[in-house]
Amino acid sequence: MVLRVLMTSPKGGVGKSMMARNLAVAAAWDGIKVATADLDPQATLTIWSRRRPKDVPQIPHYRVVWDEADALLDDQELSLHDVIMIDTPPSIETQPRAFSELLAAADVTLVPCRPTFDDAESAAPFLRHLRDEGKRAVVVLNFVKPRVNINAVKSYLLEYGDICPVEVADRTDYARAAAKGLGLIDVPNHVGADEIGGVWKFVKGQIWRKRRGKTKG
Ligand SMILES: Nc1ncnc2c1ncn2[C@@H]1O[C@H](COP(=O)(O)OP(=O)(O)O)[C@@H](O)[C@H]1O
Ligand SMILES: [Mg+2]
Repeated sequence: MVLRVLMTSPKGGVGKSMMARNLAVAAAWDGIKVATADLDPQATLTIWSRRRPKDVPQIPHYRVVWDEADALLDDQELSLHDVIMIDTPPSIETQPRAFSELLAAADVTLVPCRPTFDDAESAAPFLRHLRDEGKRAVVVLNFVKPRVNINAVKSYLLEYGDICPVEVADRTDYARAAAKGLGLIDVPNHVGADEIGGVWKFVKGQIWRKRRGKTKG
């Protein structure tokens, strides 16, 4: 049975595609049969996937147009995979039905967010909407700078959703690795591997709990 991890945010440039590829790489090194899917017409994740070298774990990829997003709801069609990381464009309001179905099918919904009040305040209505649909999303704080106190932003966000306990730092290497079709966990001994590994562990805990619930029910 496939478990779905959905990256979503009404804002662009917050790290949805970065999170999709880095978590996919973390899962692949963890021995999980992981795939990626790209619903963004800009195709950032698809282009990354095409660049992936042969000497790192291979990750099957699907480029999906919104009209065919139903394919991502079909357990049978995805039965070769344990987990699928689904990347979305920021303009999801143009696809309310397809997005709402995807949201309902997601085992965990991740909302990357920069750790500033401006960003948190623009994510809040979206998080509230998800909560009203019965989906408490998980905010992953991204672009975190060293020695900046972000407790007030976190406390604000906690009114609307959960927060991943591991934060992702602001590192040029995320873009550098991406340009080579890599995630940071593919890079030997990279310091950023700890944070991505940590986010993956958290996500894994969330989805595995879901799976136990599903197989029981
Ligand atoms: N933690 C980070 N540190 C530095 N650069 C990052 C980080 N996360 C993402 N980026 C870079 O910021 C840009 C936007 O990220 P991206 O994942 O494409 O955002 P989105 O998919 O939400 O539009 C990309 O160039 C990406 O490589
Ligand atoms: Mg993107």
